[in-house]
Amino acid sequence: MMQSQPEATHRPAQLQLVNVWKRFGEGERQTVAVRNVDLSIAPGEFVTLIGPSGCGKSTLFNMIAGLLPPDPDGSILLAGRPQMDGALLGKISFMPQRDLLFPWRTVLDNATIALEVEGMPRKAARQKAEALFPDFGLQGFEKHYPHQLSGGMRQRVALMRTFLFERDLILLDEPFGALDALTRSMMQRWLLEIWARHRRTVLFITHDIDEAIFLGDKVVVMTARPGTVRCEVKVDLPRPRDASILTDPEFMEIKRRLLAVVEEESMKSFAAAVAP
Ligand SMILES: Nc1ncnc2c1ncn2[C@@H]1O[C@H](COP(=O)(O)OP(=O)(O)OP(=O)(O)O)[C@@H](O)[C@H]1O
Ligand SMILES: [Mg+2]
Repeated sequence: MMQSQPEATHRPAQLQLVNVWKRFGEGERQTVAVRNVDLSIAPGEFVTLIGPSGCGKSTLFNMIAGLLPPDPDGSILLAGRPQMDGALLGKISFMPQRDLLFPWRTVLDNATIALEVEGMPRKAARQKAEALFPDFGLQGFEKHYPHQLSGGMRQRVALMRTFLFERDLILLDEPFGALDALTRSMMQRWLLEIWARHRRTVLFITHDIDEAIFLGDKVVVMTARPGTVRCEVKVDLPRPRDASILTDPEFMEIKRRLLAVVEEESMKSFAAAVAP
C-alpha cells in the first residue's frame, strides 16, 4: 500500500517538487521548516497532505504558490515550468489557512476579488461568479455580507473564490478546519462533487485522517519538523464516494496504517516542543 508515485510517462506532472527546502533565520536561531521534499502530482489528481502542526505544510504551500522563495537547493515545477522568483505567481488558485472574507464586501463581491485583481471588468466578473452560486449552495445570498452567513457558507464563499480563479492547480490549506463534524462531512461530499464537475488538480491540507482518505487519490504524510515526506499512501477506493466507504475494510486498513505513522510523527513533534 505504501508506495511512491509512479513516474508520469505521457504528460508532465501537474506539480513536481524536487528536493525542496526552506530555512528561516540564521545560525542558532535558524528554523529548518521544510527539508528535502520530493513530491509529484499528476494532472487531475486529488492529493491530501497530513502532518503534525508546525511541520511546514503551509510553508510548502506558500512556496508552491510563489509567495515565498524556496531555498536554492531544489526546484518546484508546474506542468514542467519552474516556479522561480514567483514566476508562476497567479498560476495557481490558493486558499490560505486563514482565509478572510472582506466584511464590507457582499458575498458576490468577495467571490469576484481575484478576477477583479486580474483585470476582469467588474460586470463580467459578477456574471461569471453568479453562474457558480447554485453549485456552491449560495443562491439567494449574493447580496448578503459575510457576517450574515453560517461558518459553512463562509467557507463555501472562500472556496468559490478559489474555484473562480480558474487555474489547473488548487491549493486548499485546511479549508474545513473550523467546521463542526456534521457540516464538515457534508462539505467533503460536496467538494468531491464540485471537483468531479470542474476537474482540477487539488492539493489539500488537513489534520483529519478520515478526511484525508475520504477525499484523496493519495495521502501524503509529512514528518515532524523539519518536515519532509514520510510516506505516500494510495487510496484506490472507488468514486463517487459516500459515507459508506468509512466502514469499508480497505478504508479501515489505510486508516490503521496512517494512524500509526501520524501518531509517531506527532509524538516526535510533541517531544521536540516540550524538550528543555
Ligand atoms: N515567515 C516565517 N518566519 C519564520 N519562521 C516561520 C515563518 N513561517 C513559518 N515559520 C516556521 O516554520 C515552521 C512551519 O510552519 P508552518 O506554518 O508551515 O506549519 P504547518 O505545518 O502549516 O502547521 P499547522 O498545521 O499548525 O498549520 C514553524 O516552526 C514556523 O514557526
Ligand atoms: Mg498550516
